[in-house]
Amino acid sequence: MTFVDEDTITQVALERWATTHDPRLRQIMGSLIQHVHDFIREVELTHDEWLAAAEYLTQVGHISDDKRKEFVLLSDVIGASMLVVLINGRTPEGATANTVLGPFHIEDSPTLERDSNMAAGIDGTPLYVSGTVRDKSGRAMAGVVLDIWQADEAGDYEAQIPDSPPRLRGLQVTDNHGRYGFWTISPKGYSIPMDGPVGALMKKTDIPHFRPAHIHFLMSAPGHETVVTHLFREGAEYLDSDVVFGAKRELVVPFIEHPPGKAPDGTVLDRPFLTISHDFVMVPTTSEQE
Ligand code: BEZ
Ligand code: FE
Repeated sequence: MTFVDEDTITQVALERWATTHDPRLRQIMGSLIQHVHDFIREVELTHDEWLAAAEYLTQVGHISDDKRKEFVLLSDVIGASMLVVLINGRTPEGATANTVLGPFHIEDSPTLERDSNMAAGIDGTPLYVSGTVRDKSGRAMAGVVLDIWQADEAGDYEAQIPDSPPRLRGLQVTDNHGRYGFWTISPKGYSIPMDGPVGALMKKTDIPHFRPAHIHFLMSAPGHETVVTHLFREGAEYLDSDVVFGAKRELVVPFIEHPPGKAPDGTVLDRPFLTISHDFVMVPTTSEQE
């Protein structure tokens, strides 16, 4: 039998967890135990603080379900989600950059036909978004699936509205010229959800709890790395203080203002509207690059 003391417990725990069968899980558990023990020693964690942390994580769990992803949000606000993106999503020069997925993506969105309106019946300034998806050598990519979602003008995603029908999200497939195009409303900056344990923690800080105006895209194509990205509005508030560290210079695009009249898809509008024209670039999966 092994008895431990303050000096030996870390080594004993590491040896015990070194029996983990899967090599990658063994590496992760070993490193996690080392860092957690180092952290407890460094801050000299008290028993009450340890209990408070356990209670806090319990609250994060209690408020979470398949739509309210409070653990993801917690990871987002401490920069952990974005660090994972930065490590895993290193893209070559010219390729579309990745950013956080966020907690509001919903699978199986409705089909968004070319040039149709993702925001039908929802208040806001009309915005036409179009462009192409290309590969690294500039060739148009047909059949790329674009999964698109955004918040409404109040900053709410469908996932935050109880029993909502599908809204402000859609799936569109690029045509033979790699083109996509859809109508929506111009997104606004919004606050992350502040009514749960993550909000309670944020309120103990001076951190601005807002994200700059953006639209989400998740792009997939066989043989290519999946791209999880946003387009941010140039000049938007909070671009330099994005609470989840997700804003990147190369993802900031102009939202061009137009007076009433004819839009690029031929639609005639009787009120001012905006357009975004943006080409995405995908890279082959790592195995195909080698
Ligand atoms: C979002 O952009 O939808 C989002 C990302 C991280 C945290 C909260 C919201
Ligand atoms: Fe968002």
